[in-house]
Amino acid sequence: MRKIWILSMFLFLYGCTQQPVERASLPEDNFLVIAHRGASAYVTAHTLAAYELAIQMGAPYIEIDLQMTKDGKLVALHDSVLTINDAQRAVADVTLNEIQQYSPVNESPQSVYASPGANDLRIVDLPEILLNLGDNINYYIELKSPNFYPGIEEELLKLLEEHQLINGEGTNPRVIIQSFDEDSLRKVFAMEPSIPLVKLYKLKKDENISKKELKKLMQYASGVGVNVEAVTREMIESLQSTDLHVHPYTINDEETMRHLKKLGVNGFSTDRPDVGMRVKNE
Ligand code: G3P
Ligand code: CA
Repeated sequence: MRKIWILSMFLFLYGCTQQPVERASLPEDNFLVIAHRGASAYVTAHTLAAYELAIQMGAPYIEIDLQMTKDGKLVALHDSVLTINDAQRAVADVTLNEIQQYSPVNESPQSVYASPGANDLRIVDLPEILLNLGDNINYYIELKSPNFYPGIEEELLKLLEEHQLINGEGTNPRVIIQSFDEDSLRKVFAMEPSIPLVKLYKLKKDENISKKELKKLMQYASGVGVNVEAVTREMIESLQSTDLHVHPYTINDEETMRHLKKLGVNGFSTDRPDVGMRVKNE
């Protein structure tokens, strides 16, 4: 009994003495349009064509799902298992060169890859994306299933450094990193705290983010991405009162965009960045 009492006191005092952690700032923009997988309503997701169209449409950030191939290359793909020639292949078990033999016909929910050259669409890796898009855009990168890919965080930071995309405080971040995986985000935070991090949640309709969870977020995250069905005014107020931005996903219809704008979210992901920009500028 005495031991339990001492342990409780220790945990209480530890909680009281935890210092607030300084977290990187997300863009001040009041309704940030994030092109989800590029302009993916119009062009096959995660292709250069989809990203380029999003840039033409005026989106300030493109969202990229990142995974790692067998040979350690960071590749833009949503699904971690692909259907190639009717066979299921894990991204972790194929090389970039092997994957690039096939064209994505349709990306997610069931990715299908057609014979070489189909549609002239290609799967691309992060260096190719950064070389092609350069300074024309900012990057909103998702570490997808990072538990499958040991070392993915280090590889990502190395590439960002090489491309001079870690710009520190004071200006809009060139890169934002998001993930459903808390450990992965904490790892990035420990290595490079100047990059703003967004923790993703998939919640049920009436589910909320608990106070305990909020305290954890305040140790590393600058924002939260929540599926739009679960977003309420109360949730937004509670998150923003702890300096967390709210970026719901994935909104494609204008009315919902307008509703979220009124509710005061800080930004949102959309497959239709043209519509998003129109609503933002109304
Ligand atoms: O922006 C959040 C969103 O990208 C997470 O879901 O499945 O589209 O990657 P998903
Ligand atoms: Ca994503």
